[in-house]
Amino acid sequence: MINKEKQVNTYLLKWYLEHRRDLPWRILYRNYLPKPYYVFVSEFMLQQTTVGTVKKRFTEFINKWPTLEKLSAASETQILNFWSGLGYYSRARNLLKAAKIINSNFNCQIPNNYDDLIKLPGIGDYTAKAILGIAYNQPVMPTDANIERILVRLNAIEKPIKQIKEKLKSLANNFISNKSSSNLIQSFMDYGSLICTPRNPKCNLCKINNLCLSHKNNLQNDIPLKIKKKNKKSIKYTRAYVLINEKEEILVRNRPSKGMLASMLEVPNDVWVKNKKNLLHDEIINKIKIKLLHKGCIEYSFSHFDLETDIYFGNIKKNKLANANWIKKSHYLNSGLPTVMKKIVEVAI
Ligand code: ADE
Repeated sequence: MINKEKQVNTYLLKWYLEHRRDLPWRILYRNYLPKPYYVFVSEFMLQQTTVGTVKKRFTEFINKWPTLEKLSAASETQILNFWSGLGYYSRARNLLKAAKIINSNFNCQIPNNYDDLIKLPGIGDYTAKAILGIAYNQPVMPTDANIERILVRLNAIEKPIKQIKEKLKSLANNFISNKSSSNLIQSFMDYGSLICTPRNPKCNLCKINNLCLSHKNNLQNDIPLKIKKKNKKSIKYTRAYVLINEKEEILVRNRPSKGMLASMLEVPNDVWVKNKKNLLHDEIINKIKIKLLHKGCIEYSFSHFDLETDIYFGNIKKNKLANANWIKKSHYLNSGLPTVMKKIVEVAI
């Protein structure tokens, strides 16, 4: 009798040949493995962004920076501009930093061992193992959300995933494949996203449901256990000013190099506060003294808080501000403004 892990692996590898998702970073090259550079870039993008969104942006990225060498020569501003819409901008900064280190210390080759990978900025246990397994077919099993869900369901573990991360890593190790690691890891990911889905898993299509303790006990909709959100996200307030000159240009500036949206472009806005009563006009508003028109209010959701923004519009003469930065109104969608700022401009104009 072959063990449960072996039966799962055999089935998933067979299933994968027929049902694998066609994703641009998976194109096979030498040794029937994807390009390490593609895996490296895609894993950075996939941290906190869905496969659907990354699919479109990945190809754009590769067209711009087709090799690690090209990427390592890019500036932070170029990468941040590209990253607009993907969110979590620290990933973009880390991706560039890691690329520069790989260029100078590893001759532009993505490292193929855990110790070198884990030291790179933005690479943790999951990403290091994903690169080793998917790009180099090394015997590892990274634990992404899909894999974790399959494991807790197979074993009917009635604990929230967050509380058993280490246990899941060790359970995952029982599935490691010595020969077909790359395909097996990706088969788990695809099975989790197409069959063993977060909600309403398709157990009727699952030919290994006889091995699944959750299915056996009809717990597949209860496992993984959800943790109730303790408190709602907090809310912060600001006012933003979309100021346009006679040449149809919008006044912008760079955000501070630390904190939320660090170094990104923004339209002038007040310091974000938790209590609306504490809002203070940005210094530019005190300085220019022009008529402002209230255009509306938006709520934008960041990971840890929502930002409520009242939006004001004003006309201003270009020569009133020396050394200011302006972007063309007609190009505001392609000028490196982060999404929240684009939404603000959209409301104002
Ligand atoms: N999520 C994280 N990495 C992935 C990959 N390589 N394929 C599909 N989904 C993923």
